[in-house]
This record gives sequence, structure tokens and C-alpha cells, in this order.
Amino acid sequence: MPPLPSLLLNQRLSLSLKPLLLFSQSSLAPRKFQIPRQSVSVKRRTFSSLASEHSSENGGRSSVRGRSGALSPSLVAEEVQRIDVNPPKGTRDFPPEDMRLRNWLFNHFREVSRLFGFEEVDYPVLESEALFIRKAGEEIRDQLYCFEDRGNRRVALRPELTPSLARLVIQKGKSLSLPLKWFAVGQCWRYERMTRGRRREHYQWNMDILGVPEVTAEAELIASIVTFFKRIGIKESDVGFKVSSRKVLQEVLRCYSVPENLFGKVCIIIDKIEKIPIAEIKRELNVTGLSEEAIEELLQVLSIKSLTKLEEILGGAGEAIADLKELFSLAEKFGYSEWIQFDASVVRGLAYYTGIVFEGFDRDGKLRAICGGGRYDRLLSTFGGDDVPACGFGFGDAVIVELLKEKGLLPELSLEVDNIVCALDRDLQGVAAIVATKLREKGQSVDLVLESKPLKWVFKRAARTNAQRLIMVGNTEWQKGMVVVKVLSSGKQYEIKLDELE
Ligand code: HAM
Repeated sequence: MPPLPSLLLNQRLSLSLKPLLLFSQSSLAPRKFQIPRQSVSVKRRTFSSLASEHSSENGGRSSVRGRSGALSPSLVAEEVQRIDVNPPKGTRDFPPEDMRLRNWLFNHFREVSRLFGFEEVDYPVLESEALFIRKAGEEIRDQLYCFEDRGNRRVALRPELTPSLARLVIQKGKSLSLPLKWFAVGQCWRYERMTRGRRREHYQWNMDILGVPEVTAEAELIASIVTFFKRIGIKESDVGFKVSSRKVLQEVLRCYSVPENLFGKVCIIIDKIEKIPIAEIKRELNVTGLSEEAIEELLQVLSIKSLTKLEEILGGAGEAIADLKELFSLAEKFGYSEWIQFDASVVRGLAYYTGIVFEGFDRDGKLRAICGGGRYDRLLSTFGGDDVPACGFGFGDAVIVELLKEKGLLPELSLEVDNIVCALDRDLQGVAAIVATKLREKGQSVDLVLESKPLKWVFKRAARTNAQRLIMVGNTEWQKGMVVVKVLSSGKQYEIKLDELE
């Protein structure tokens, strides 16, 4: 028997002692595991004890290979090793019920992306570390899972998808026709302090548009997130988007002749405003080279929550005001004005944003950002490529689940099969396989009972799998080429020729 996967051990109390169908790597034949209730240790027995157990199990015959052809345990015997049955801190298993929720969520991500005409892409989870090293002092850099591989290359588990997108766009070069609209759903890794909805591994839905310099692109992206929220039952009274533009900061810094190359660094410091004391923020800005006067003005501008007020301070001529006004005007046309609000304090923690930035937040203020994104027109040139206007967002899978829980909107997702098929006689197991195959060929799902079981067991199983029909293969009926169908919702039962079974 192969070592019991830790997920099974972890779940031993909640799982019933039913056969679980798993596929081992060495063989695609399903194997039956019986989960031990007593012990959580994987017994890796000693060579001598195994040798004697093995020979007594097979009646004294000694064989090196079992039925599956796998090496006999005696050859892989080691000492007993008690394993931690939990996954590494901050990571998750996805047992079936969690996987159903994940699939439900990802299907919505994918369906919304399809509705907006985006193409799916993906990149390796493992990337070159250099892709994520930016000099602006971002938090994400300190959270990197990085190491040297066996070929002495510095590599990292991706903390986000945007640098990989940039890398691929540079690699494809002129062969790409712009604008491109790409989406991805991928796992990201950040060695983060764990809070509600923040973990060390999460999945992110990203949608990005490259090749469109106009704010229409940002407006389209926010429209897609609003569409997603509506589909899953979240309303504008539950969440909103705080929107600003980094050009607001740029204009203030320009007034004080702060060099352009400090811009990213200043943004990263400002993004920490709610996380560290204001005195520390001022000190860091000062160290960067900003005068006290510039800092005070900056902080004052950042507290503005009205576009009209911002216009009064900055004047109406700048790009920041023009972009934001256009975005709000487009929001009206898209029909999501109620969802968005201007908030100059939104800067975001990644150095590469250059224009509009936005963040989805829960209006009860209990959770961290639900999603976030913005324009990053100059990221490609930081990797040596030609710049292409770009914007996009990342939407994690963890905070949204917390929000759905809060709002009582988590869907009830249970296992559902169309049919459960069972042979009433052991000799008819092959016929049951014929019935199952026929139904599967028609696209129907079938839970085929693989062992001889009493009907009571079959009914219990049907209830657990929410089977719609029970199909029984019995001797008397089969002699006439027929099977018995029981519709489980109504209890209606009838005999039908196999050829006519739909
Ligand atoms: P980000 O704000 O770092 O942006 O992450 C985007 C979203 O990913 C967050 O709003 C949150 O939903 C989720 N997220 C981030 N870190 C964690 C974590 N430790 N645990 C759970 N969820 C998390 C970016 O990553 C940008 N690359 C987004 C982007 C795409 N900008 C343009 N295109």
C-alpha cells in the first residue's frame, strides 16, 4: 500500500470509512484506502519487521513485486516517521468541498473574462528572482519565496503575475497584435503576516489590457469586476472602489522639483500611511529628499476625497484631473457610478503604477483590499523592452470568500452525479460497467458501485452523492436486456431496455 497522503490523515475524523478513489502516480488503477482511525503516524517499518510481516501476509511466499508491480515495502523500509498532517503554515489543502468552492469562484472569473473578450494565459509559478526585484522598497520584495536552484540560479515563487506578463509580452514582441486583453488565474506566493483573507499562498484572477493609453481601458476593467460582483450576489452597498491617479502625486512632486526617479519610492512610502505612524512616514519621505513643505502639501492632498476639491487645488488643466473625470463619466455610461469614489489616499504598494489606481474595499471596513490594480505604462522598459501602455488588476481568492461568508452569500455546493449504477449480483459487475459506459458516452455522470454492496448501502451513497437516478442491473431484467431505473426524487421506478436508456 502506498503511503497515505497527508490530506487523508488530516481529514481522518471527518471522513467516513468509505472507499476513496485515488490514483497513484505509478498506476492509473484506482486504489482503495481504508483510513486508520487510531494513528496519524505513517508507519515506515524496519526492514526485518517488514520482511516477517510480508512473508506471513503472503503465506510465507516471498515476492519482491506485488500485484501492481510496485516494489514490495520491504525494499523501501525506513524508520517510523511521524509527519505533521497540516500543510505548511499559510497554505491550504483543497478537499472536495473546498475545491467545489474554488471551482465555482474560478468559473465566475473565467466566465466574466470571456464576457469581456479576454484570452486566458498562464506563466510558470517559478520565475527568475530578478523579475520581482525592484528598487523602490516594496513590501512584496521582502515577502519573496526565493532560493537558489540546483543549477545555482536565483529563482522565486511568483508573488504576483504582472512581471511575468511583461516578460512574455517582451518575449513575443511584434508578433502580438495590440491591444491585447489577457486574463489569468494563478497561484501566487508571499511570505506575508497572516491576517483574515491574507495568506502565504493565494490565487489571483488578473485581467490586463495592453496597448490602450486611454482611460477607457481602466473603465472596462472596473466594469468587469462589477460584473463579477453582481454575478455572485455582491451589491454596491457591500463593496466599493476607491479610485485615484498617481499623476496627482506626480503633479505635487513636480511643483516641489522632486526628481522623477524618486516617484516610485515616494509612492511606496505613502502606501504605508495606514500601517505605520505618520511621524515615521514623514521621516522616510524626508530621508528620500522631500522638503518638509513638500511633505505637508503631499499629505494634505492625499486626504482629499472629492474630485472638485482636488481640481480646486491642482487646477483643472492637469492629466490627473482629466483622466479621473473621464473615468467617472465612463462609469456613468457603464452604469457603475454608485460603486466608485475618488480617494486621493489610494496609491497602492507596487512601484510600477503610473496613472489611475484603484482598490476594491468592503464598506463595513472589516477586511483588507478585495482587489486592486491600475495603469503601469512604463513597466516593460524597466525590463529592457519597449514600453506599451498597460493596465490591469489582481483579485485574490481569499478576501472575497471572507466577504461572502460575512454576507451569508457562500453558495451551497454539493457533489452531484446524474446516476448511480449498481449490479445486484456480483456476476453482473461487467454488465454494470457496460451500462455506465453507455451513459458516460452520452455525457451523463455515473458513480459506478465497484463492489458488491447491499442496496441499503447503495441508497445511502446515492443520498450522499445527490444522484438523480439509481440504475440497478439485476439478473431477471438483464435476461430480457433490461435494467431497472429508479428516479430518486420521485421514487418512480421502471424497467427499460439498455438501448433506450437516455
Ligand atoms: P496586489 O494589490 O498586490 O496587486 O494584489 C492584488 C490582490 O491579490 C489583492 O487585492 C488581494 O485580493 C490579493 N492578494 C494579494 N496578496 C495576498 C495574500 N497574501 N493573501 C491573499 N490575497 C492576496 C498585484 O498583485 C498586481 N500585480 C495586480 C495587477 C495586475 N496590477 C496590474 N495588473
